Amino acid sequence: MPEDFQVLGISRRNYTDTQFRDFIFEKSLKKLGNKFDKNIISNFLKKLIYIKGYFNEDSTYNRINECLLSKTSGLNFCDNKLYYLAVPPKFYMDIFKNLAKSGLTLSCSPESGWTRILVEKPFGRDISTAAKLDQMLGKLFMEKQIFRIDHYLAKDTIRNILFFRFSNIIFEPIWNNNYIEKIEIKLLEDLDIGTRGSFYDNIGALRDVGQNHILQMLALIAMENPKEHSAEKIREGRVKVLKSLMPINKPEDIEKNIIRGQYDGYKDNKDVESTSKTETYFNVKAYIANKRWKDVPFYLESGKALDSKKTEIVIYFRNTINCLCHQDHKDSVHQNILSIKIFPKEGIFIRFWAKKPGLYSDLEPRDLEFEYKTIENKSTDAYEKVLLDCMRGDQTLFTSTEEVKLAWKYITPILKNWSSTKLHIYEKNSSPGAFPSNNQ
Ligand code: BG6
Repeated sequence: MPEDFQVLGISRRNYTDTQFRDFIFEKSLKKLGNKFDKNIISNFLKKLIYIKGYFNEDSTYNRINECLLSKTSGLNFCDNKLYYLAVPPKFYMDIFKNLAKSGLTLSCSPESGWTRILVEKPFGRDISTAAKLDQMLGKLFMEKQIFRIDHYLAKDTIRNILFFRFSNIIFEPIWNNNYIEKIEIKLLEDLDIGTRGSFYDNIGALRDVGQNHILQMLALIAMENPKEHSAEKIREGRVKVLKSLMPINKPEDIEKNIIRGQYDGYKDNKDVESTSKTETYFNVKAYIANKRWKDVPFYLESGKALDSKKTEIVIYFRNTINCLCHQDHKDSVHQNILSIKIFPKEGIFIRFWAKKPGLYSDLEPRDLEFEYKTIENKSTDAYEKVLLDCMRGDQTLFTSTEEVKLAWKYITPILKNWSSTKLHIYEKNSSPGAFPSNNQ
């Protein structure tokens, strides 16, 4: 961080600056242990200022203004300003409107500092609410000022997808429907919704992680070579994939291609409707209508309260070659599998077949594994990368307006038909294998 910066925390709580600093220390800096010198930590904490306020009140924005102009803050209205909306999306409209009204989004001149806005997903509830929000945001900011976070894009292993695919000659030639049978993208979680009832019951799994994290992983796995490492080209590549997703909009197609579930006990959570039909699990069989991916199913699966937390992308190659194995094993499946592991391991795993040592010609599966590092030793968090890139003005890891629109375009017809789609009630700690199959 540069010498001159301030962080203004704004919320409803009654904190003094000191209490706010203690809170930040306890919640986040303490766990860094001895990674940083004590002086660095204490100098950082001095940069934190707290403003109590409600998002719908003018006085909150006046206080931000006063703070920016006060001598003690050392800030200037014309400094670079980054507004990070780490708030439930229902407050977005109010905040956008009030920021605009207060003049806090104005630049002093084209040269004197930038203003950027960082928003969390879900951006809208469906295609029409997202469009409304976008319209509002578009009036206040230019696209280059808007940073829509999808923290999955900033994970090292996910960023590695493009490097891995396009820096190694051995994978790209077989990255298509001639060689790939199916792809699974899984974001499975053992935790239930905990205390997030009021947020989650309004949203459900498909909006929470499907519309964003899972579709973004799909876009990176399926996109064409962007040819250059620039935000523009990479976003363009992701857009093309999202555009080619085959819509699932007829109730009978939804029934056939999508499994939807809710864990038993979900409705007992605080702030969850007792008659709630919100899904905590989904498995969507998706297809991409282009030459490379014609007829290759992508299984997009996510759930809460399952038996373990696991995030991975598994690519199953076709079993087309005539193996040189013993006559008795001619018919058995010798499938190659490539798995991009995101959690708990971070790395890449390849399954291949090799001759068993010994006198006979039997084959056995063997694995090649590359692991970044264990999660415990992880040096950076996806959010560190997200914040840093926003300050640098690099939009590669942020979703564009177009991507958000296309993701909603795919998801909205499914959501519209949710109420008539069967909801499977599953036991907590179920394994994903316990769900009905959409693998026909
Ligand atoms: C968030 C969702 O965006 O992603 C959560 O709101 C989910 O419900 C989380 O648990 C998963 O992220 P990660 O990084 O823990 O896999």
